[in-house]
Amino acid sequence: MAVKDFNIRYEEFSSVEEMLPEDQELVAAAIDAQKGSYSPYSNFQVGAALKLDNGLIVRGANQENVAYPSGLCAERVAMFWAGANYPDAVMETLAVAGANAGVLCESPASPCGACRQVMAEYQKKQGKPMKIILVGSKRIRKYSCVDDILPFIFDSLKMR
Ligand code: THU
Repeated sequence: MAVKDFNIRYEEFSSVEEMLPEDQELVAAAIDAQKGSYSPYSNFQVGAALKLDNGLIVRGANQENVAYPSGLCAERVAMFWAGANYPDAVMETLAVAGANAGVLCESPASPCGACRQVMAEYQKKQGKPMKIILVGSKRIRKYSCVDDILPFIFDSLKMR
């Protein structure tokens, strides 16, 4: 038996101004995408902005329903729309931002397990890493691929 450690390397920014210009644009788009949230039940607004290799930024926002499981997270709204409309495009970077009752959360957004699994699927499909940016008002984290937010991903594909 061996006890092993698993380390995850990511970048953490204390302000959006520290980021690359294209990432700043994506962060702004994710925050702006919160306007499309339909969240009368949770009052938690999530915006997602997905940069494709064709230059487009696809936006998503969480959509809720009185029959709770019928709703969908912001990340999957964006990825499914991109997958349906631009099936050959590479999903380069996905930024996510959450707000409580309209106020951007201090801590970085943390995608649910189902969204992480969907990210993993598209990353595998495209054969190129999908970078992830998780936005908070006090901290922003950037990960170089989905594996870093879904350790021990069930697929054996290695992106690093
Ligand atoms: N939500 C997202 O849109 N993305 C996530 O990664 C986590 C949660 C949404 C679902 C629901 O509309 C609300 O946030 C509260 O859970």
